[in-house]
Amino acid sequence: MTDSQRTATLTIGDKSFDLPIHSPTAGPDVLDIRKLYAQAGVFTYDPGFTSTASCDSTITYIDGNEGVLLHRGYPISDLAGKSHYLEVCFLLLYGYLPSAAELEQFEDTITRHTMVHEQMHTFFRGFRRDAHPMAIMVGVVGAMSAFYHDSTDISDPRQREIASHRLVAKMPTIAAMAYKYTIGQPFVYPRNDLDYASNFLRMCFAVPAEDYEVNPILARAMDRIFTLHADHEQNASTSTVRLASSSGANPFACIAAGIACLWGPAHGGANQACLEMLKEIGSPENIPEYIARAKDKDDPFRLMGFGHRVYKNFDPRATVMKQSADEVLELLGVENNPILATAKALEEAALADPYFAEKKLFPNVDFYSGIILEAMGFPTSMFTPIFALSRTVGWISQWKEQFSDPAHKIGRPRQLYLGETERSYTDIEDR
Ligand code: CMC
Repeated sequence: MTDSQRTATLTIGDKSFDLPIHSPTAGPDVLDIRKLYAQAGVFTYDPGFTSTASCDSTITYIDGNEGVLLHRGYPISDLAGKSHYLEVCFLLLYGYLPSAAELEQFEDTITRHTMVHEQMHTFFRGFRRDAHPMAIMVGVVGAMSAFYHDSTDISDPRQREIASHRLVAKMPTIAAMAYKYTIGQPFVYPRNDLDYASNFLRMCFAVPAEDYEVNPILARAMDRIFTLHADHEQNASTSTVRLASSSGANPFACIAAGIACLWGPAHGGANQACLEMLKEIGSPENIPEYIARAKDKDDPFRLMGFGHRVYKNFDPRATVMKQSADEVLELLGVENNPILATAKALEEAALADPYFAEKKLFPNVDFYSGIILEAMGFPTSMFTPIFALSRTVGWISQWKEQFSDPAHKIGRPRQLYLGETERSYTDIEDR
């Protein structure tokens, strides 16, 4: 944080209070209200944290008006085009692009942590077969704290590092196992000669009777989906991980909390909801009806994959995702896919509609990702688990960063209380 001498003055009645102003390296200035209650006896009120910075961070920067997303200063388009997921993981975790030797070492470490404790297989078998894979992931990732005791001491930096490697490495295995379990197929063990994305595809689609030959173009598209979801500063699930960790909870419990938050349709669940919506729309001629419903205040329907709390311009991830959708569908020979045609027509219709223009609603990362994932062979229920495995590195990087902040405290928001004031208890016979 850049400390400045500048202050803003808050006047309440006849008293004035000086609030320090911090200047970030990019983005709007930040008013420091940490001492406000002690000095002025008032709280601030900001449900949904629309104007509140909950921490300082050096990991990810978003300029929502310009459609900019930087990880450690590097634009997402460069990372998605020139880098690959594990290099981006290193960048997020350690703050700089690795040398060739560092990257090789990191990839080796992650690869050698991909297997899960054999006893976890039994744990999976406790779930019903029709469980949503996200329900399984919340449970299994939380349960990692019962399997990996040597990486739960958060006061030990080495244990924190091992936990972060384990989480990045094992999450694809856990997501693939959740999928295999729900379709009644045997688990497929990871293989050390495959890269991260290829390994995940194989663990999802190979069966003992027949191996799965990984198509390098699909593996590249998978890797790009991982990269585009890797981190997104203080979104709901990341803030959940930070808040859970602020109490000193172990890393696996904190990431399980993040997965639970991501599941909701306003967040990571939007990719599943978006594809289901596109299928329901069915074909371009039905679009006007759905646009009208999205605009109707009395109808709870929203265009899924549209709008964002921070982006009031194109989500830069959506631009890359759209290109990827074209490439993958062409490769698979399904470029005339009716869902893609509906998506493109819907995007065009919404962007031309004054309602969406005035509210600055643009396609977000989830608008095209589901189309790619379905073309690859994933059912909709796997879309959010794939988001969760991709975002794990972001959660864990933010979790790790929190420990380096000497000012870090347990998170404890205040409230605007509107309930009853103290009243006398009425005995049941008198009510
Ligand atoms: N369709 C129709 N109207 C919308 C939409 C939409 N998708 N999104 C926002 N609006 C309207 C909303 O009704 C409100 O109108 P008014 O001002 O008249 O009340 C206005 O736009 C502002 O919406 P908001 O809900 O106050 O904005 P928010 O910042 O709280 O919500 C959002 C952001 C992403 C939850 C919301 O845009 C939404 O529900 N989108 C659909 C779900 C979705 O695609 N989520 C994925 C987000 S990107 C990936 C991720 O973060 O996980």
